[in-house]
Amino acid sequence: MDRLVVSGAPAATSSRYPRVMHPLTSPPASIAPTGLDLSALAGPNLTPVLGRYFERSWSHGIGHRLFDTDGRSYLDFANGIAVSALGHSHPAVTKAIHEQVDRLIVPTGAMGYAEPVVRLAVELAATFPEPLDTVLFLNSGSEAIEGALKLARRTTGRAGIVAFKGGFHGRTLGATSVTSSAMNYRAGYEPLLPGVHLLPFPAVYRDFDGDEKRATAVCLAALHDLVRTTIPAEGIGSILIEPIQGEGGYYPAPAPFLRALRAFSSEHGIVLIADEIQTGYGRTGRMWAFEHAGIVPDVVCVAKAIANGLPLSAIISRRELQERWGRGAHGTTYGGNPVACAAGLAVLATIRSEHLVENAAARGAELVRGLEAIAAEDPRIGDIRGSGLMIGIEFVKDRHTKEPNGALVEALMAGCADAGLLVLSCGRDHNVIRLIPPIDVSPAEVGEALGILDRTLASLPG
Ligand SMILES: Cc1ncc(COP(=O)(O)O)c(C=O)c1O
Repeated sequence: MDRLVVSGAPAATSSRYPRVMHPLTSPPASIAPTGLDLSALAGPNLTPVLGRYFERSWSHGIGHRLFDTDGRSYLDFANGIAVSALGHSHPAVTKAIHEQVDRLIVPTGAMGYAEPVVRLAVELAATFPEPLDTVLFLNSGSEAIEGALKLARRTTGRAGIVAFKGGFHGRTLGATSVTSSAMNYRAGYEPLLPGVHLLPFPAVYRDFDGDEKRATAVCLAALHDLVRTTIPAEGIGSILIEPIQGEGGYYPAPAPFLRALRAFSSEHGIVLIADEIQTGYGRTGRMWAFEHAGIVPDVVCVAKAIANGLPLSAIISRRELQERWGRGAHGTTYGGNPVACAAGLAVLATIRSEHLVENAAARGAELVRGLEAIAAEDPRIGDIRGSGLMIGIEFVKDRHTKEPNGALVEALMAGCADAGLLVLSCGRDHNVIRLIPPIDVSPAEVGEALGILDRTLASLPG
């Protein structure tokens, strides 16, 4: 099916989208395919609790490709769910990790200071607008959310928390309490944290027929109704929101909605928390997604991409807030590991020197143009949305009824993987394909991914 025109895609020869090799695509001779079936080896010992998109056995990652144990390579547009923003084995990140491993591995947060930790705090703070200048390093996204909720509760003395339906903030008990992107995250864990109020999120395409103004008005009315009927604004300590909902379906919050939340929080002394755990570090075409709305939250939670795969998260706020939180009010054993922070420094330096925020915006625009060309010929695509390189494609059985087509998404994910492209699903009905390539993805790789998506989709019935 020849229905796609992509600017920046390689010129057609015998194959319209020839496989483009990253400079590092050939595995070093020392990494030979083992041929192991790791799912069989895991047998009865590895937990059945973790959800998995694939049952494949992975060997290594080089550049923008993951390799399975049979030596087959896959263009990786999943990246451990938006974690390896610079792809795999990026030379600068790997070098920084190696050097730090030889110098100091153990966390020294409770003993004093370690150079990469201090330097990353300085560099990370510099990526935020004033007055956000103070960084607390932790380990995971959930832990950052827990910390932010505790910060808000202690500094305001208020127990109320407002979060939004369809949001995903993690799996610890506090983070679970503010998560509602799927029932499986909550069911059986009640009673959850008291004082949480889940309000409608302005999911413009799905719930408001594409009417952003109405989405914003209805969701703000729900907030005003909450403080009129259920809890006074002075009882709310925090409002927590993903500027672009991730697991919930890659729904951007309209800028006017974020601005209204900012104004409401300021008026009532509420701590506005932005969960930038999936959007973070240049992915959306700005360093941080809240910048698109021209707001500055009180607290920002970051994780995932900041150390390109090593566990590291952080809470960023103005200094006065963390001073009021108080020494010893929160803590961590592993948070701010020197090796993870050294990786983080290399990631930030690379984002700057290679202009990757701009690359995310440009490549994202190319991806959207290519997807729109596919959608023009395939009515099963209901909506294409997102920002920069955080793009959702929503699949429906009918564009008018918008009945979700999760079965097609499942088949598309599997078919793309068979064809050498890794993409993931999201959304409450699992009917959204999310594209989260590395932010240093090339035009040729964008073209390659579009070609695989196009051909695979065209080959699938229903
Ligand atoms: C927006 C968002 N918040 C929080 C989390 C939780 O992070 P973690 O899995 O590191 O605890 C995630 C993870 O997917 C996320 O996407």
